[in-house]
Amino acid sequence: MNMLSGKTALITGASRGIGAATAKLFGDHGAAVAVNYANSESAANGVVQEIVNAGGKAFAVKADVSDPAQIEKMIAVTNRELGNIDILILNAGFSFPTVPFVQYQWEDFERKLTNELKAAFTCCKVVVPQMIEKKSGCIVAVSSSLSRQPGPGYVAHSTAKSGLDAFARSLALELGPEGIRVNVVAPGLTETDATSHIPDEIKQMMAQHLPLQRNAQPDDIAGAILMMASDQSKFITGAYVPVSGGSPMI
Ligand SMILES: NC(=O)c1ccc[n+]([C@@H]2O[C@H](COP(=O)([O-])OP(=O)(O)OC[C@H]3O[C@@H](n4cnc5c(N)ncnc54)[C@H](OP(=O)(O)O)[C@@H]3O)[C@@H](O)[C@H]2O)c1
Repeated sequence: MNMLSGKTALITGASRGIGAATAKLFGDHGAAVAVNYANSESAANGVVQEIVNAGGKAFAVKADVSDPAQIEKMIAVTNRELGNIDILILNAGFSFPTVPFVQYQWEDFERKLTNELKAAFTCCKVVVPQMIEKKSGCIVAVSSSLSRQPGPGYVAHSTAKSGLDAFARSLALELGPEGIRVNVVAPGLTETDATSHIPDEIKQMMAQHLPLQRNAQPDDIAGAILMMASDQSKFITGAYVPVSGGSPMI
């Protein structure tokens, strides 16, 4: 249980869902964790409390990661509280309309693309120089199986996450010589607030089509993020890791 001992991790969108599960798992594995949130202050404090109660180190940091000024402040506060960042998890989930393309408005499409990419770009822009200085670091972008396997109504999400995949691959190539690894974890349908609106019958139908016959829980995704963030994957960079019960086979 010490895969991240001595490391400092910043996880965006860690008050709920996949980010919260990842923060708790990272805390269990010895990382000092910055738990970013935008609105859910008490949920973020709850995540921090769980980590601390289990003997770990964490603090909650409020920032809307669609705003570069708030990102800069979040990272400065994290540096002050926990030191330089070794592990950056780009996880915050930006909402989007799930309507057919013919009904999609450019403004909604643009907002999703801009938020997703601006958050990734700015977080990396601020954190990467710290990693270059240490000649080591690890970035994991939480994408989606929808970046490669589109679904009706998900044109903005699929396009944004494909952009995130390409961004991560580009950084992996450029930053490898600096000792920095960059990988993508791509969850399939995961039981979180973001998917609570999907009717149970639809979820069950989707699960039945998967080789593993169930949808993901947040800790399924957190486990894969931990693996990619730890030295267990020290020779892996530029990878796209589907965590989706075998969906790429169907
Ligand atoms: N659930 C799935 O089926 C699924 C599948 C594939 C990929 N993913 C990806 O996995 C990631 C996490 O999704 P999830 O299902 O865990 O979502 P979730 O349960 O809805 O949680 C979203 C998290 O993102 C935070 N967040 C939202 N907007 C933010 C902003 N502007 N700045 C900072 N934080 C912000 C929220 O914080 P507050 O509560 O404080 O606002 C919350 O902690 C997302 O990137 C999503 O696209 C999810």
